[in-house]
Amino acid sequence: MNNNFYHQGAKTPRTAKFKGFPNQDFLGALVSWWLNRFLLLAFCFFIGGCGSSGLNHNLAPTPPMGWNSWNKFACAISDPLIRQIADAMVTTGMKDAGYEYVTLDDCWQLPVRQNGHLVPNPETFPNGIKPLADYLHSKGLKLGIYSDRGRLTCENKAGSYDHETTDAQDFAAWGVDYVKYDNCNPAFLSNEIEDFRRMRECLNNCGRPMVFSICCWGFEDWMPTIGDLWRTTGDIKDNWARMVELVDANQQYASYSSPSHWNDPDMLEIGNGGMTDVEYRSQFNLWAIMAAPLIAGNDLRNMSQATMETLTNKEVIAVDQDPLGQQGTQVESSGQGLLVYAKNLSDPHVKSVVLFNRTNNGSPITVHWKTIGLADGQAKVRDLWMHKDLGEFKDEYKVYVPSHGSTMLKIVRN
Ligand code: GLA
Repeated sequence: MNNNFYHQGAKTPRTAKFKGFPNQDFLGALVSWWLNRFLLLAFCFFIGGCGSSGLNHNLAPTPPMGWNSWNKFACAISDPLIRQIADAMVTTGMKDAGYEYVTLDDCWQLPVRQNGHLVPNPETFPNGIKPLADYLHSKGLKLGIYSDRGRLTCENKAGSYDHETTDAQDFAAWGVDYVKYDNCNPAFLSNEIEDFRRMRECLNNCGRPMVFSICCWGFEDWMPTIGDLWRTTGDIKDNWARMVELVDANQQYASYSSPSHWNDPDMLEIGNGGMTDVEYRSQFNLWAIMAAPLIAGNDLRNMSQATMETLTNKEVIAVDQDPLGQQGTQVESSGQGLLVYAKNLSDPHVKSVVLFNRTNNGSPITVHWKTIGLADGQAKVRDLWMHKDLGEFKDEYKVYVPSHGSTMLKIVRN
């Protein structure tokens, strides 16, 4: 199943979705938007300044890597499927390449709580979540789970509003390592920042470290004080236009990226069929140069050679995972869509670069040393897809890039 038709048109970034609009909750959201502004100031004061996280978490020193069920399977998830995905993550080399979280997105749970607790769907997860977590842990993987700050999730399953402590404790008891927390169906007069902060605190206090992934469909400056990563955009779709749109949106927030604080332009679509292999490779290069979380969203049990090679390119992954944690940005642009992105790395003598051709025609693209923060002169160039040192070049390097394609390089100047 493909999720491209889920929620389509129902969601505007930064506007919580409500079922049965217009309703009381919508009016409440308007009031709480203003309250948000006030409470953010109060919160910043309380934690002693927004410059620090104030929440003392350091669970994602590099961008999280893993797999999430939503893009490919939407609500068609089950215990056996997730186990097969975990097996495939190991046998395909994805785990060796650094992917570790396997995340159940929406629909693992029933629409109604029982005795105050979220309940895994007994038809699809008959043994509950703990055995699944144990299975993942036995393979050296980690479990992610999904919930929502409202009373209902985006798919109308039970959300965590007003039950944050219970849910955080249950997640901890089950062995969850990562929580993606969504923004649908907020409760009447609830406050966005408060809702996310409450869950963060409950997670902090339940005795098990859990990464907190804020899914609020757009950036606001409170997010780095509460989340380890936060969505800067609405949902990705498995097509070129949407993928490129998310790159542009995510770029604006580059300065907020640092170890344990990651801009999240949504998950990878690589291997889902809506883009060409060339375009998928561009998604991978762009996500890596932006230090984005690398969360695969395809069927790992059934990958083409090209998909596998893209997702497991260790040289590109190393750029994404560089400990400096800086998000690369666009530094050169010419010919209306011939773009150069550059990212600083922990080694100051090395820059990573993506040459990206957004146009409909193949074209040479040139990167100049000066625009990526290196002095003119001789520098070594390595191609991270050919896995080859290309030699030394003076002041610049030019290479042909196919339409919608990209290449990733390292430029080394000692
Ligand atoms: C929202 C999120 C998606 C996914 C779905 C699940 O749309 O942005 O990533 O989690 O909800 O319903």
